[in-house]
Amino acid sequence: MDCSAQCPQSQLLAMSFCLQLSLLLSVQGILGQILYPPQYTTNRIVGGEEAAEGLAPYQISLQGMKSGHHSCGGAIIDKRWIVTAAHCVIGKEASAFRVLTGTQNLQHNASRLYYPDKIVMHCNYKPRMYRNDIALLRLNESIVFDNATQPVEFDHEPLAAGEKLLLTGWGTMSLGGDVPVQLQSLEVKYVPFEECRAAHDNSSRVDIGHVCTFNDKGKGACHGDSGGPLVHNGKLVALVNWGLPCARGYPDAHASIAYYHDFIRTHLSGCQKDGDGTKTECEAEQE
Ligand SMILES: *[C@@H]1O[C@H](CO)[C@@H](O)[C@H](O)[C@H]1NC(C)=O
Ligand SMILES: *[C@@H]1O[C@H](CO)[C@@H](O)[C@H](O)[C@H]1NC(C)=O
Ligand SMILES: *[C@@H]1O[C@H](CO)[C@@H](O)[C@H](O)[C@H]1NC(C)=O
Ligand SMILES: *[C@@H]1O[C@H](CO)[C@@H](O)[C@H](O)[C@H]1NC(C)=O
Repeated sequence: MDCSAQCPQSQLLAMSFCLQLSLLLSVQGILGQILYPPQYTTNRIVGGEEAAEGLAPYQISLQGMKSGHHSCGGAIIDKRWIVTAAHCVIGKEASAFRVLTGTQNLQHNASRLYYPDKIVMHCNYKPRMYRNDIALLRLNESIVFDNATQPVEFDHEPLAAGEKLLLTGWGTMSLGGDVPVQLQSLEVKYVPFEECRAAHDNSSRVDIGHVCTFNDKGKGACHGDSGGPLVHNGKLVALVNWGLPCARGYPDAHASIAYYHDFIRTHLSGCQKDGDGTKTECEAEQE
């Protein structure tokens, strides 16, 4: 396989840059009412239902190490690796998180916790443009797989307009509301890139690294549960990234697993070297 680094960089520099951007963006989002950064959205699945038992054994709950509070979703892709959205982990150390596996109930006491020892954010994650919003978490020990805990395979088949995807998450049920104890699920429909971009006034915030989904107004993924998985026939297609304010009938955008397959593969294989301090693509693309 090709082990050449896709975008070698200094992670630290990129991270501080991205942080600044995300602060800038927050202000812009609130004032401009254009797009709401994911951390300011309600992050809920609207009109979903409790997930049937065993529906999503790949689902994890990303939680604060100290608080134990659910913060984002994610998926198990390997015995040592979790995939989630970059905006869920930006600016934080691996030790700030824990990962709950093997349950659809956040209070289930027999489920297992794992601890990340490394975060790999996409080096070109661009909060401002909502691009490359994907990150990998390496766990400090291997996940014990069982019926309720399984890695998810990737879907490599191209999707057709209107195809059904399954979204799962523990997003809060209302703005500032409590996180539901039981995992919620929702069927959403695939929206092709051109259609999705057009629905967002041809905004470049929708790019080819996104998989878009749509729900009827007033029902559906509001923004789903950030970082949470969308699957097609049981295979991982995308991770929840962003959307416009809820129930307005715009498609939501998610990080495409097919598009970021090389990023994932490179890091899981251990090929990627850590930053060498040279000028990076991330810095070069500063706006
Ligand atoms: C876990 O929950 C079960 C049933 O709710 C209870 O019987 C058991 O004592 C609990 N175990 C621990 C360690 O809290
Ligand atoms: C993993 O990290 C957790 C939290 O820091 C720690 O308690 C645990 O001992 C570590 N496990 C291994 C196998 O290093
Ligand atoms: C796991 O699944 C198998 C086959 O469906 C079933 O027989 C078994 O009882 C399950 N075990 C648990 C712990 O749910
Ligand atoms: C978006 O682009 C398409 C094709 O270039 C064009 O037909 C359409 O009118 C544009 N829509 C908006 C809202 O600009």
